Amino acid sequence: MAKGRIFSGIQPTGIIHLGNYVGAIQQWVKLMQNYECIYCIVDYHAITIEYEVTALRDNIMEAAVTLLACGLDPEHCTLFVQSRVPEHTELTWIFNCLSPIGDLERMTQFKEKSQQHREDITMGLLDYPVLQAADILIYKAGFVPVGEDQVQHIELTRRIARRFNNRFGETFPEPQEILTPTSRIMGTDGKTKMSKSLNNYIGILEPPDVIWEKLRTSVTDENRKRRSDPGNPDICNLFTIHKVFSSADDSARINRECRTAEIGCVECKKILYNNMMAHLQPIQQKANKLRETPAAIISALNEGAERCKKIAGQVMQEVREKAGIR
Ligand code: AMP
Ligand code: TRP
Repeated sequence: MAKGRIFSGIQPTGIIHLGNYVGAIQQWVKLMQNYECIYCIVDYHAITIEYEVTALRDNIMEAAVTLLACGLDPEHCTLFVQSRVPEHTELTWIFNCLSPIGDLERMTQFKEKSQQHREDITMGLLDYPVLQAADILIYKAGFVPVGEDQVQHIELTRRIARRFNNRFGETFPEPQEILTPTSRIMGTDGKTKMSKSLNNYIGILEPPDVIWEKLRTSVTDENRKRRSDPGNPDICNLFTIHKVFSSADDSARINRECRTAEIGCVECKKILYNNMMAHLQPIQQKANKLRETPAAIISALNEGAERCKKIAGQVMQEVREKAGIR
């Protein structure tokens, strides 16, 4: 019996990395069993910074392939592409008219991205979280599984819902985020959040030798300068990843032996690599298989969009009536 409706989204950037997988997608797969889940490939979000026109379509397909390979099942959830349901942008406009600019300028992601793209700070980039609020609320979703970096956007979504409800009458729920125990994975530099744009990522579909090379050169506990120095797993990003992919026994042993310098970083990385590949290789194989039948994927996305259009159309109608439009 479904406990409620879930919504979440991911940008089609051409790569899905360990941060996305551990922070969000693994959870998306689990939640399918107990909730009505709607998962969205957010192409309109992806165009808020400079992008390659010819790559976007391929990236959307690649995102769909990766999500399905990770275990999303179109029989048990709805998967669709954002721009196929125009109500998302229609509701964004209504929400724009309820959103003080100051709220948007304060968003950490906006501040970070406008640093990275100084030449090209668009209205779209500023408005990004309002579109995200519309994504969630157009389905009146109650729960949003995301990584830690998105919590601020979910808080803003609650504020927008509250403002709409106060102004036009009770309409939207105030959605709650669902975080995993490892909701923040750092990059291979060990210092900044793993992300495509910082080029510090390990893609879950990258070839094994590439994954090993990235792991091998990943920053661990920087205070551990020599093999004989004891390390501190509490501040080592790779230990965080161990806890996801390695058995409780392996993790406990590494935790112990790192602190006493019985195990070195290279050996620790080899164990992590083996455990991680045991997990990722079946996903990679499934992705290769899925790529052989693009028509099946397109048809799943089409069905998803049809289902979403029905819900979104009804909610948009209610919004228009309440806001006095038409
Ligand atoms: P994005 O690729 O930015 O669309 O992110 C998709 C999902 O992955 C969101 O729920 C993010 O919060 C999550 N995510 C992205 N990067 C990380 C990271 N480094 N650690 C944990 N979760 C992340
Ligand atoms: N902003 C999210 C990210 O970068 C992606 C996203 C867009 C999203 N719309 C959403 C996540 C709605 C959750 C719900 O990760």
